[in-house]
Amino acid sequence: MTSTERPHPNPPIKSEAGSLPQAERGEKDAFGVYVHWPFCLSKCPYCDFNSHVRHAPIDEERFSRAFAREIETTAARTPGRQVSSIFLGGGTPSLMRPQTVGSILDAIGKHWRVAPDVEVTLEANPTSVEATRFRGYRTAGVNRVSLGVQALDDTSLKVLGRLHSAREALDAVAIARTVFDRASFDLIYARPDQTPQMWAEELKQAISEAAEHLSLYQLTVEPDTPFFSLHAAGKLSTPDEATARALYDVTQEVCAQHGLPAYEISNHARPGAECKHNLLYWRGQEYAGIGPGAHGRLDINGIRHAVATEKRPETWLVRVEASGHGIIIDDHLNSEERADEFLLMGLRLAEGIDPSRYAALSGRALDPRRIAVLRQQGAIVVDADGRLRVTKAGFPVLDAVVADLAA
Ligand SMILES: C[S@@+](CC[C@H](N)C(=O)[O-])C[C@H]1O[C@@H](n2cnc3c(N)ncnc32)[C@H](O)[C@@H]1O
Ligand code: SF4
Repeated sequence: MTSTERPHPNPPIKSEAGSLPQAERGEKDAFGVYVHWPFCLSKCPYCDFNSHVRHAPIDEERFSRAFAREIETTAARTPGRQVSSIFLGGGTPSLMRPQTVGSILDAIGKHWRVAPDVEVTLEANPTSVEATRFRGYRTAGVNRVSLGVQALDDTSLKVLGRLHSAREALDAVAIARTVFDRASFDLIYARPDQTPQMWAEELKQAISEAAEHLSLYQLTVEPDTPFFSLHAAGKLSTPDEATARALYDVTQEVCAQHGLPAYEISNHARPGAECKHNLLYWRGQEYAGIGPGAHGRLDINGIRHAVATEKRPETWLVRVEASGHGIIIDDHLNSEERADEFLLMGLRLAEGIDPSRYAALSGRALDPRRIAVLRQQGAIVVDADGRLRVTKAGFPVLDAVVADLAA
């Protein structure tokens, strides 16, 4: 795994919240709800997310009842929380009818208190059919959309197995910008045969089309995907290390020059337009995972729970109907695991971490000698207020930095 790869919209890796001091939380008592819609029209050859193609129509009403049931059960475990962000991810949530989205949001509003300024993001694929549903989603309560554009040229889109053209995707972005208060789109870089010059041009175009936020993920070749087999057979060329590094550097430079600096290793926003929900993961705050294959981090009776549900949609459905939830993993994290998650997630952020928080979680301070060496190497800095941040030079080797600090 390289450290510049995409973060999952609902990360399965462990993260930490516990009783974070308010300054660290960024927002008092932030609580997120992630809802996973696990279906797609076709499976993209690079994708290892929990997404499934079904040839018979999906019984949305039945799924909708199951989502409401799991929301009710999860809310009963987490009383008194106020929901500050909701993220409908996938899969392809934009295949849901707006009524289905509305009933999920209603169930959340019925069982938890919802903040007046709640951020409600829906992940959408940028086809013209999906764009016709945008107004319905807005009426249902969605106020932010994240579009999977992936590339701005048709040849790349074909290689990526996408069902939309670049024109169609940009039209969907333009519609999204008129319908929603906030919009973002995703691009994948380090694609076969992509040069830093080509990427710089594509990125400038993307920035001119983007409203306030871009997620820019380096292509990762995941096991058990068609891309993996093609790569192993020498039929898919990905950039070598030096080119990948140059592509990453171009990403940082072009985005910073155009007012969209990175606030996380793969996420760029105009200041103030950061995705609240994503920040909540990286700051180690609390979130519930609803739907097939969703992950959550819940603080119950002072214990941090790492929760995951059954991945197979129909099995999840039957489980929820029988017992009110689809949970198959509910681990208690010990202090070391919590501290490691805190480092792993927090150091992805440009704002970095508060080392005293790490010490409070793990029961030991970060090793000052290791900090000194990493500072000398230019991989990290320690700010005047004591926060520890990874530098531009350190981000491409973030995994190594985290491993070193956590050792
Ligand atoms: C799981 S997808 C869901 C969004 C939506 N279904 C779509 O494809 O547009 C979330 C994002 O993850 C990114 N992604 C998925 N697989 C990836 C991979 N192997 N390498 C890099 N990015 C990837 C894509 O940018 C995608 O938009
Ligand atoms: S549409 Fe999105 S979630 Fe579905 S297979 Fe493609 S990348 Fe994965």
